Amino acid sequence: MDYKLSNTAKEILLNNFQEKGFTIPSKGLYPFQWLWDSGFIAIGFAHFDIEKAKTEIKTLLNAQWENGFIPHIIFHDESNTYFPGPDFHQANLHAQANKKYKSTGMTQPPVTGFVLEKIYKIATEKEDILNFIKNNIDQVYKNHSYFYENRDPHNEGLVYIYHNWESGTDNSPIWDDIWESFDVPDYDFERRDTSHVDPSQRPTKKEYNYYLHIVDIAKECKYNDYKIAELSPFLVQDPLFNAMLIKSNNSLINLYKIIGNNDTKIEQLQKWQKKSITSFNSKLYDEELGAYIHFDLRNKKPIRFISSPSFSPLFAGIPNKEQAEKLINTMITKFGGENMYLCASFDPTSNRFDPKKYWRGPVWVNLNWIIYYGLLNYGYNDIAKQIKSDTLEILEKVGFYEYFDARKKAYTKEINGYGGSNFSWSAALYLDLINN
Ligand code: DGY
Repeated sequence: MDYKLSNTAKEILLNNFQEKGFTIPSKGLYPFQWLWDSGFIAIGFAHFDIEKAKTEIKTLLNAQWENGFIPHIIFHDESNTYFPGPDFHQANLHAQANKKYKSTGMTQPPVTGFVLEKIYKIATEKEDILNFIKNNIDQVYKNHSYFYENRDPHNEGLVYIYHNWESGTDNSPIWDDIWESFDVPDYDFERRDTSHVDPSQRPTKKEYNYYLHIVDIAKECKYNDYKIAELSPFLVQDPLFNAMLIKSNNSLINLYKIIGNNDTKIEQLQKWQKKSITSFNSKLYDEELGAYIHFDLRNKKPIRFISSPSFSPLFAGIPNKEQAEKLINTMITKFGGENMYLCASFDPTSNRFDPKKYWRGPVWVNLNWIIYYGLLNYGYNDIAKQIKSDTLEILEKVGFYEYFDARKKAYTKEINGYGGSNFSWSAALYLDLINN
């Protein structure tokens, strides 16, 4: 295949890179540094500009809080193109918030550990990259300690998220029933996202009322995790979030072994790992659905829907062989087929599926990338090849958008992708996929 977009992908990353040492996900729509975006972006940079990959991670870690927490958005600059900004979030209500960087008081999937390992593998100057990792890995370890000490109130090895923005899959139909479970005020605010993107591709005003209200509750708790666990109406054990943590635990173990002299940390990581994987399989695996699902910790019940996050545990080596086989069968039968690109973000056979709206159905490049490596892990090379070629085909057809229609027939002449354009992680992960 002729990878004709490789230069365009590099240009997008270079254009989105900012003087202060981080990369915006997309101009206008997302004008700051986002945690998991930064991780994927660093992987893309590692393929052609390793110094920028290091800078991206370094800048992210600079914003870490004293307790190990890493925020989901770091507001490096002022911007009037995004809402809600730092004045709404007021992260400094938390006594240990970073004094130098303004941020949100919520986090995002903990990708940094596996990103470090991935960058180590990509880099050609191994000694140099290992030095970089040596200097930064303890901060990532501290972040994992933070999770296990503060976000796991029942000591299960599964951490909670208290906001849909922490999941990364912001308006997934998974949250719909949670929204039904409590009332919210009608906020008066000016949306900014819908001035960049067609509103039919973004969350609704009503959904934003919920998003803002849970931030307000967290603020009342002064972003104290124990209080949030008591009071937040949104409290979920998310399979994608926990799979990223488990994958990153594993990467930290591998990297500490290469570095040497870190036996105590390796032992601790292995303990977390064992407990997390056991609970993950007993609590988040739904035998009947043949998929991993979310658990609503507040209302104490499983959320029995299948989404692309359902397949992410493959990436972290969580399912046994038999579970992996079932999982892949579920993906092929519900999400696959001649007329569909892999992998829709939400079950296309469900009446909650919406092919155009943000996380309610469209294909996302980062989830495809996660599932691709997960399938390779388990030796499902043919279907791995398919998800990779689907991803490349879509990107080459319409360019580096934020998300894409999973229905092949939707690609008529006028079609392009959805959401933001010149989207950094779509470009970054394209560079990784074509180099694999
Ligand atoms: C947004 O503003 O839509 C972001 O995804 C929040 O993280």
